[in-house]
Amino acid sequence: MTRALEVLADAETLAHRVAGWLVDLAVSKSGDFAIALSGGATPRRLYQTLVTSPYREATPWSRIHWFWGDERFVPCTDSASNYHMAQEAMLAHAPVPLLNIHRIPTEGGISPDAAAAAYEQDLKRFYGAARFDRARPLFDVTLLGLGPDGHTASLFPGAPALDETRRWAVAVTGESAEPRITLTYPALESSRQVAFLVCGSDKRAILNRLLDDDAELPAARLRPAGPCHVFADAAAGPQA
Ligand code: 6PG
Repeated sequence: MTRALEVLADAETLAHRVAGWLVDLAVSKSGDFAIALSGGATPRRLYQTLVTSPYREATPWSRIHWFWGDERFVPCTDSASNYHMAQEAMLAHAPVPLLNIHRIPTEGGISPDAAAAAYEQDLKRFYGAARFDRARPLFDVTLLGLGPDGHTASLFPGAPALDETRRWAVAVTGESAEPRITLTYPALESSRQVAFLVCGSDKRAILNRLLDDDAELPAARLRPAGPCHVFADAAAGPQA
């Protein structure tokens, strides 16, 4: 498993580097462009950067579809919501068609299991098929973070979701403060490009384990259809 590591000087430089990388990918492809966004704190600066010049002007907003790799099962107005973070940092500040935002439903009394099933139906409707074709990935880019325990999206060590091969999205309970909805490996792997964004000295040890392909880490078990990039700042990157 090859992971192309690129170490940037700091989080701000990383945000600009990844913004340019994303825009170039979106511009170089015609038609719909599907991005699965990561949650947590790391990608926020990237999202904010995408709605600043020159990226805002260069991004083909009308044909990008926005998905999430996972979601906390909280209201979309809750500060813990991954949708809320992306909406506040980026989506509310660009000409994004509302129908292009594929939010994971978390309100109206829906259960986590029903939310995962509804999200899966939305994904299948967008993909146009109920089974993955490895030659035709669902996402053009999947952005992922790396948790201190090696989780990614909401695939936590030892969780049953790690072994799910049929469903595209599942509910995860008991692994964090609130239930989560996460894409499973088959869905996350159905991506032309995957990019981990890893920042901060507290991530150095776990990043080294990822780069060493430590199979205990859920993040290391990911086998995407296309190239896997790791964008890290110097604080998280391997010591020279
Ligand atoms: C989430 C994310 C999760 C995150 C990692 C890293 O919903 O929290 O999907 O997988 O990417 O925990 O989070 P930080 O970027 O906050 O360190």
